[in-house]
Amino acid sequence: MTRLSVPKESFTGLALRRGGRRSILEDVDQTRSRAESRTKFLLDETQLPRRWYNIAPDMPAAPQPVLHPGTGEPVGPDDLAPLFPMELIGQEVSEEPEIEIPDEVLDIYSLWRPTPLYRARRLEEAIGTRSRIFYKYEGVSPPGSHKPNTAVAQAYYNKKEGRTRLATETGAGQWGSALSFACRLIGLECKVYMVRVSYEQKPARRSMIKAWGADIVASPSEGTQSGRAILTERPDSPGSLGIAISEAVEDAAGRDDTAYSLGSVLNHVLLHQTVIGQEALAQMELAGAFPDVVIGCVGGGSNFAGLAFPFLREKIAGREIDVLACEPAACPTLTRGVFAYDFGDTSKLTPLVAMHTLGHDFVPAPIHAGGLRYHGVAPLISQLVRDELIRAEAFLQNDVFASALVFAGSEGILPAPEAAHAIHGALQVARLADEEGEERTILFNLSGHGHFDMAAYDNYLAGNLEDVALDEAEIGRALHAIEGLPTPA
Ligand SMILES: Cc1ncc(COP(=O)(O)O)c(C=O)c1O
Repeated sequence: MTRLSVPKESFTGLALRRGGRRSILEDVDQTRSRAESRTKFLLDETQLPRRWYNIAPDMPAAPQPVLHPGTGEPVGPDDLAPLFPMELIGQEVSEEPEIEIPDEVLDIYSLWRPTPLYRARRLEEAIGTRSRIFYKYEGVSPPGSHKPNTAVAQAYYNKKEGRTRLATETGAGQWGSALSFACRLIGLECKVYMVRVSYEQKPARRSMIKAWGADIVASPSEGTQSGRAILTERPDSPGSLGIAISEAVEDAAGRDDTAYSLGSVLNHVLLHQTVIGQEALAQMELAGAFPDVVIGCVGGGSNFAGLAFPFLREKIAGREIDVLACEPAACPTLTRGVFAYDFGDTSKLTPLVAMHTLGHDFVPAPIHAGGLRYHGVAPLISQLVRDELIRAEAFLQNDVFASALVFAGSEGILPAPEAAHAIHGALQVARLADEEGEERTILFNLSGHGHFDMAAYDNYLAGNLEDVALDEAEIGRALHAIEGLPTPA
């Protein structure tokens, strides 16, 4: 047998030195050992949070009850049992401040978690700010976003309670790929209803969902009553998250082996995302800093909540933090919607939840941040906006893409168009601070990479992106849909 012989000098980092072997780990760069000059703040796998943080018991005003659309009375666990496993229903209404993460879920999390936290030094230089900018990067997960943090947990509890198949919707395709990844690893079948405009804009996301073994169709589809009703009225419907949710809920409600899985909005989904903020708190400590401003983009609200809730716990306890939610001007739910009871889907199949909404049949313009095209926002976030613990701003997509390219040109990562809203928010905050002669510590969530969004970048670079800002009349028209529904207390 021939042995492979590799010249010692090819291991440059492990070079033999006079006086014996020296490990690369001993070659500590003294400059970079100081937090002030470091780029990445990393946690070890053993430092993965062991519990999710539940903000509900810490909130100054209790969230409004979820109502049965038929009776107007609060829904009970039995009403939700056809759609969700009991363990998730329990988490939905839990008053426990922390909920233990099952070992099986932690095992899968450890494939990519803890995720890195970066000091965006090059971005700071590029815009010439005096502020310090940090970002938590969730794009390192296998599907490329924060979504698997809840997908894995949901697949786990469903499997444990005997379901063999999950049905879901997806906007940009990030959630569909996350759930198809989780179902593959846990051993469940998966059906994905993908909003038609994204299905057409993002063939590679479609392929990724199929590669993990899920069945995928464009929504509205002919396969459900909800889909057929929409197509009869509007055969060229671009679809929306509200419509795709109706299709997935109908699918799940009609089959005993199938549960419904939602990628955002619900309390238990936001809960599962709080690993992000808990890690970020520890990493900011490693950096010797604490944020003055915490920023995330908001579709249904899960990545924003994931980063912000553990910091809001500090804010509620008395620390001063500005918490900013960034949304598209084409779907300005928090900035221009109303706080009201509404359905989570277009065909009115879900219970009624109190949230900021533009009305359940509002179909947002087909902007490229497909994951932010949702008529409502998580009830927990809506309540916290109402209580003035969170503020919100809306941005036009050309401004957002311009900021995405400033970020890509300095930090290197091409962000998902959704995540670019948080980048734009961070740049706005930094610019304003500079104008006011202030120096702030800014932390934002980079919820995913944009490697499957290159058509959007092509459109932007070719000058073909339209800015869509809604006029008041259109919002008024959309809000007719909620007339007659119960009013929150
Ligand atoms: C990368 C990315 N960020 C953000 C979102 C918005 O969802 P949420 O508000 O639930 O985080 C999505 C949704 O698909 C997404 O793909």
